[in-house]
Amino acid sequence: MHLIKNPDQHHPLSSEITPREAFEQRRLLLRGLSTAVAGTALATWAGREAMAQTAAPGKLARLASTPSRVAGAMTMEKANSYQDASTYNNYYEFGTDKADPARNAGSLRTRPWSVTVEGEVGKPGVFDLEALLKLSTMEERLYRMRCVEGWSMVIPWVGYSLAELIKKVEPNSRAKYVEFVTLADKSQMPGLRSGVLDWPYVEGLRLDEAMHPLALLSFGMYGEVLPNQNGAPVRLVVPWKYGFKSAKSIVKIRFVEKQPVSSWTRSAAQEYGFFSNVNPQVDHPRWSQGTERRIGEGGLFAKKRPTLMFNGYEAQVGQLYAGMDLVKNY
Ligand code: MTE
Repeated sequence: MHLIKNPDQHHPLSSEITPREAFEQRRLLLRGLSTAVAGTALATWAGREAMAQTAAPGKLARLASTPSRVAGAMTMEKANSYQDASTYNNYYEFGTDKADPARNAGSLRTRPWSVTVEGEVGKPGVFDLEALLKLSTMEERLYRMRCVEGWSMVIPWVGYSLAELIKKVEPNSRAKYVEFVTLADKSQMPGLRSGVLDWPYVEGLRLDEAMHPLALLSFGMYGEVLPNQNGAPVRLVVPWKYGFKSAKSIVKIRFVEKQPVSSWTRSAAQEYGFFSNVNPQVDHPRWSQGTERRIGEGGLFAKKRPTLMFNGYEAQVGQLYAGMDLVKNY
């Protein structure tokens, strides 16, 4: 075992590990975005080097010292490579194999794009992507993401707290939950031909969960616009919940009085409850949730990590569930 790290170890930039053409295309897209929102912090991350995916400790330290107003928005854990994060995906609209989304999501058209906000709000409306990009200051957040299937990754997302959008639309007193509806278009999404889920993919949060500053409305990762397979052009990242709560390619946000039924609950209610907080003490009916395999760590035979309550974000979000029976409310 090597106890001393080799200081000369090479840490590839994503420009080195992504096919050159694809990389440059993303850069171009990003330049387009940053022009659209010149004057916001997006321009800052746009100009940044592809960051910490295989970060040297120094780089991580720099990342962690990036001003972030949100407690818990940075972990000191090593980020996954861009390659891992963009080729091992769940996006059933493009197929159920982990490699399918990267292979098939090229057909997703992310412009023009708009998100309709409706329901129990004072200011409903249709936000086009440009308006959403300008709505608040972009931040970079290094989040752990734990999938219900038992694997995890650490990914530097770019976006702002969903709360920023929610405040703008002024939920009324009947708004208790927020429902997220994602794109379902057969002409772009080959996976819709299969009946694995009821389309469109729908997810939901309680309003106070959606308002929690850690809940991120994300437009990018690794300093670049989101690749299609990761939910371009806009998705949710809710780091204390199993990954399926983080809906991709959102087209509608509805504020409602009653608890929404998510696609996963509809497909198997006994396996996927509404809350879906990462909880090592509540097993999935078919497997334990006590440990997880970090993607990129030595393949199938690598030692698993213990899964942490609320995916390690207990200090930040535990209060949201004070007094609740989290075995019943799984
Ligand atoms: N959103 C949509 N629209 N369709 C999906 O199939 N899969 C979910 C979630 N969001 C999914 C989705 C699941 S199961 C996970 S684990 C995460 O996206 C994976 O996100 P990532 O591929 O960016 O890591």
